[in-house]
Amino acid sequence: VKLVDNIQRMSMLSKILKKEGKSIGFVPTMGYLHDGHMSLVRAARQHTDVVVISIFVNPAQFGPGEDLQKYPKDIKHDEEMAGLAGADVLFCPSISEMYPEGYATYINVEHLTETLCGKSRPEHFRGVATVVAKLFGIVKPDIAYFGQKDAQQAAVIKKMSEDLNMDVEIKVLPIAREKDGLAMSSRNVYLSAAERKDAVCLKEALDKAESAIKAGERDPKVIINGMKKLIASKANARIDYIEVVDPKNLRPIVPLSGDILIAMAVFIGNTRLIDNATVKI
Ligand code: PAF
Repeated sequence: VKLVDNIQRMSMLSKILKKEGKSIGFVPTMGYLHDGHMSLVRAARQHTDVVVISIFVNPAQFGPGEDLQKYPKDIKHDEEMAGLAGADVLFCPSISEMYPEGYATYINVEHLTETLCGKSRPEHFRGVATVVAKLFGIVKPDIAYFGQKDAQQAAVIKKMSEDLNMDVEIKVLPIAREKDGLAMSSRNVYLSAAERKDAVCLKEALDKAESAIKAGERDPKVIINGMKKLIASKANARIDYIEVVDPKNLRPIVPLSGDILIAMAVFIGNTRLIDNATVKI
């Protein structure tokens, strides 16, 4: 894997690749790579000629009191994982180069960012949209890959690239899970042994909701209450939100019909985890 730590060099490299007629697949990450990231890299490997992974812990998407300072890092491990999955370039820009003094431009995707995670993390998606737009400008991907675990993020990025006529295809791939169902996340490393056990309750609650919908329940309140009950039985769990929404506009659906996104954020100890499921009625 070729390590590139400078914006100009990455931009140059992409320009050369494009001139050579090569397609670029891009997997933006904040590092501490896991199998979820690797499934995106493997897809990129299949569809495009050159695969670029970025690693950048983006300060603009962390709110006050969040885990920016302690976000896990292990660049040696990331290099190894990236190589094994067949990535070609690891782009790791510095904060001072991404946000130099006087930096002043931010992207606000309206409406989609005001619900779900946007309620408890009001600046988060502005930071995500901004950094992804910057990374797209530098890497110039033909296809960019995101995980469905961050369903709202994926919806926001799709909307941004559509609204701003960005010449990039956005592909969203299924959630990668541990054997017991916990969605893979770099933040899972924060969990103690007892918390790790309780963390399975997110997937259990989603399964319970799916079963209820499949059994004919159409009242989102009943479904959400069932999920809340299950989660309340875990000592380390505290719900931030559970909502049942339309996967495109993220607005509540009452009564349930069509495509449905069941989305949730739950604190397990001090760690905020998100998960979701999509159901078609
Ligand atoms: O999903 C993530 O890891 C981040 O939000 C992203 C897309 C890399 C932007 O910083």
